[in-house]
Amino acid sequence: MTTKTPYQLLGKEIIYLIACTFYDVMDELPQAEKIRKIHSAHKGNIKQKLYEYLVGWLGGPSIYQDNTGAVCLTEPHKNYSIGEIERDAWLTCWYEALERVDISEEVKLMLKEPVFHLANSICNK
Ligand code: HEM
Repeated sequence: MTTKTPYQLLGKEIIYLIACTFYDVMDELPQAEKIRKIHSAHKGNIKQKLYEYLVGWLGGPSIYQDNTGAVCLTEPHKNYSIGEIERDAWLTCWYEALERVDISEEVKLMLKEPVFHLANSICNK
């Protein structure tokens, strides 16, 4: 039996939808106000960046790495003070985005705990 990667299970269109929905949720939720403010300094297309990062991280082609020359998320986050409050606000948006996109419970589970650990690793205070 071969195990499929989340990338194979989801496909890039759904991953793009998750990235877009995530930032739409961040624009809406009152709990996300603080992290919404810090994201407003980002000058590029952040939905596209998150999509590219997720494709590689979920087992697909390494397009984020190819386009930015980086794999690690420490650098883009280093100018922001990120602790548990910011992490939890980010994760609230992530979990809500997963609810809004039509994906199976199995895949949702694959996208919850590992992303919690990833978000935790981004904390810098
Ligand atoms: C833990 C809470 C997090 C906070 C508060 C946060 C905040 C931010 C902020 C403020 C930026 C804009 C950086 C800039 O000005 O260039 C950013 C960029 C980004 N974040 Fe996060 N982030 C968090 C977690 C995550 C996680 C878990 C992921 C991956 C799943 C992620 C992926 C990205 C990506 C791909 C970018 C764009 C980087 C680039 O421009 O190349 N972030 N984040």
